[in-house]
Amino acid sequence: MKINFSSSLPQHGTIIVPVLQGGLSSPAVKLVDEQSKGALARGMKAANFKAKAGEKVMLAGPDGLDDAVVVLLGLGDGKGAVDAVALGGKALAAAGKGISHISVVSEGLTYAGKSGADLAGKIALGMMLRQYDFDIYRKKTAPKDAVALEGVTIVASDAEGATASLDEAKSIVAGVKVARDLVTEPPNVLYPESFADRCLELEKLGVEVTVLDVDAMTKLGMGCLLGVGQGSVKPSRLVAMHWKGGKDGEKPLALVGKGVTFDTGGISIKPAGGMEDMKFDMGGAAAVTGAMHAIAGRKAKANVVGLIGLVENMPSGNAQRPSDVVTSMSGQTVEVLNTDAEGRLVLADVLAYAQKTFEPSAIVDLATLTGAIIISLAHEFGGMFTKDDDFGADLMAAGEETGELLWRMPLTKAHDDMIKSDIADMKNIGGREGGSSTAAAFLARFVDDNVKWAHLDIAGMAWTTKDQDVCPKGATGYGVRLLDALVRRSFER
Ligand code: BES
Ligand code: MN
Ligand code: ZN
Repeated sequence: MKINFSSSLPQHGTIIVPVLQGGLSSPAVKLVDEQSKGALARGMKAANFKAKAGEKVMLAGPDGLDDAVVVLLGLGDGKGAVDAVALGGKALAAAGKGISHISVVSEGLTYAGKSGADLAGKIALGMMLRQYDFDIYRKKTAPKDAVALEGVTIVASDAEGATASLDEAKSIVAGVKVARDLVTEPPNVLYPESFADRCLELEKLGVEVTVLDVDAMTKLGMGCLLGVGQGSVKPSRLVAMHWKGGKDGEKPLALVGKGVTFDTGGISIKPAGGMEDMKFDMGGAAAVTGAMHAIAGRKAKANVVGLIGLVENMPSGNAQRPSDVVTSMSGQTVEVLNTDAEGRLVLADVLAYAQKTFEPSAIVDLATLTGAIIISLAHEFGGMFTKDDDFGADLMAAGEETGELLWRMPLTKAHDDMIKSDIADMKNIGGREGGSSTAAAFLARFVDDNVKWAHLDIAGMAWTTKDQDVCPKGATGYGVRLLDALVRRSFER
């Protein structure tokens, strides 16, 4: 899909005209009305168009625009507007499928506090994000869209200014696509080794990629991560992706991701119904990999290292048992009382490795860690756990900027007390109550007190069963834009 900005109106394809309530004579409406020799005004009147949020009127081939379909898109009073990016997604969806060219007339519009080139750029970003498609496994079935969308034109007078922002947006969209593709791939195709192979693609962008195999991890004493993977015939991996765009010697930000390529629960096996969802249990690792793509793609002036723990959690004659005791790389021992609480075991060793190898100034981990966070926050927010108020505020702000929202959750000594074990340093479950907080308390035990750290539980956010403004149903790529914004706001020089 090619995007361009132009100050003149294309004469073909679908032309979207977003209209605010009370903006029936906006510059965009005037422009299209003149071209269509008054057909737009007549159509608005005939359909009693009031520009209420979501209201749509279509005019096919009006006089003067014979080869075009004009769609008026109501925006309401604009007060509920939170995101200009979402408008781009809405516009793309309003155009429908099977269209080869779409134009959006944003000329003269102020929406969500944005106008001109700024607004045009955000609309383009939203359209690119919504335009995601994963269609590689339909071989004999007809493709979902018979006609591929070839081009998009955004009509704005400052076309040059808008074009300038497009390169950066493209890197971010590329990162989101990487994450969505990884999450969507079925687990027979995407398993620890094949996931690690895909990470090597980042070398093309100048990222230093290191892959640890089972031998290397055994030598490092990663008993927690390896215990989870030992039931699978697919050997585990740990991947480090290092982008050095910042000052020499400046400590990096570490992004850590849970990469359970399939979570059956292990011997504490999950029920059959819904188990298929657990292909997205590597959503944290996908977000980290996608974020590294975005950050390297736009040559961010920051030192950032992404680290992901890749395992498959399977039951087998060699799987770990409930009641096993394992020793982590940090030296702390863990009584594994439920093999389905595996994500925290994987992250424990990746967190230890991250600190020992890269001495980061700050760490953010992302994980589809607990079902309990979905009970708390539904699919509206990622759960954020941190002991550092300032770092927490930075992350919240990045969430608000991108629409990848976070909600801060409690992490206290009481939660830590709930994971005391009778025979080891800790147990891997705390009981049903406060399940997301006890999981966070477990992770906290593997992070040095001097290191800024936040844990994001994204179990409710990695996948959507409904189309969203900037994301068709399926994998969301949640976290990529959030992490990219965090780097831009708080870590770039
Ligand atoms: N991957 C799951 C968490 C999950 C559940 C993510 C549903 C997305 C949707 C995780 O490994 C898990 O199984 N957690 C258990 C923990 C429990 C055994 C303490 C859970 O949430 O039930
Ligand atoms: Mn599990
Ligand atoms: Zn899991």
